[in-house]
Amino acid sequence: MGRFTDDGFENRITQLFGIRYPIIQAGMIWASGWRLASAVSNAGGLGIIGAGSMYPEVLRENIQKCKQATDKPFAVNLPLLYPEIEKQVDIIIAEKVPIVFTSAGNPKTWTAKFKEHGIIVTHVVSSAKFAKKCEDAGVDAVVAEGFEAGGHNGREETTTLCLIPAVRAAVSIPLIAAGGIATGRGMYAMMALGAEAVQMGSRFVCTYEASSHIAFKEAVIAANEGDTVLTLKKLTPVRLIKNQFYQKVQEAENNCISVNELENILGHGRAKKGMFEGDLNEGELEIGQVSSIIKEIMSSADVVSTVWGEFVKAAKEPFVF
Ligand SMILES: Cc1cc2nc3c(=O)[nH]c(=O)nc-3n(C[C@H](O)[C@H](O)[C@H](O)COP(=O)(O)O)c2cc1C
Repeated sequence: MGRFTDDGFENRITQLFGIRYPIIQAGMIWASGWRLASAVSNAGGLGIIGAGSMYPEVLRENIQKCKQATDKPFAVNLPLLYPEIEKQVDIIIAEKVPIVFTSAGNPKTWTAKFKEHGIIVTHVVSSAKFAKKCEDAGVDAVVAEGFEAGGHNGREETTTLCLIPAVRAAVSIPLIAAGGIATGRGMYAMMALGAEAVQMGSRFVCTYEASSHIAFKEAVIAANEGDTVLTLKKLTPVRLIKNQFYQKVQEAENNCISVNELENILGHGRAKKGMFEGDLNEGELEIGQVSSIIKEIMSSADVVSTVWGEFVKAAKEPFVF
């Protein structure tokens, strides 16, 4: 679906969002503020501000700074379980954000309101069944995110390789693949399975513009195969780097502790402690399996151009390595 030249891809996603490359930087707590989002949008991809770790007024400031730093389209990611969701929604509408990526909740709740204000709505799912619900709720596009992905994850544990063809068969709205993609060759594989764009999270954590702590970025670069795990399944499943905090959770789960006790171990502010403050032992270090192939920290514009160059090469000569 669509046509590409060396300069960009013309398909339903690039047309819907008004971008040159079908490369989307995921909205991520404690990583994707206005600096990262505007840099990615300026580079021809779609940058997303992650509202999940922002108080409403912090979100407003990030949106305003993003608008000053780019004249290109950008989006806000809004996890729908956010406690002050109504304030966040009002700010997104008042600031005329062109695109929202909602996640972690029911797509029916806010889609109509956003669309009344001319905002494009994309929702994140981890199964074909929920992709269909999104289509029925009137969203413009879906992100299908597989088991490999960093951060909060579906309970079904479907890998991206299995999820993308299933979602492609289930819905006719535009489809974005996420989870385990960090290279142009990975992007090519996803587009061959029916995706029309890719959303990358872990790869964009390892950029200068990500607001993540440098110690966390370096831990991601150092991560090898098997260093991440999907845990806290009794609460909200999350993929993170195995560290001392994870070992505590693991021991507690082995001892069959209650959900309440697990909540106590998790406490408050774990994600901020690990990813923003750089406490590699006691913090929560959310990252995907693909961290094992990410080997350097670079600018986000270089990530976009490198991935795009690799994609074009792979699409022209898929079997030449
Ligand atoms: C550090 C981090 C924070 C994340 N925070 C969010 C978030 O706030 N909202 C959301 O919808 N997804 C979040 N995600 C998931 C990403 O949006 C994205 O779908 C995922 O990273 C894709 O998989 P990958 O890490 O293999 O590229 C987060 C991922 C990471 C790595």
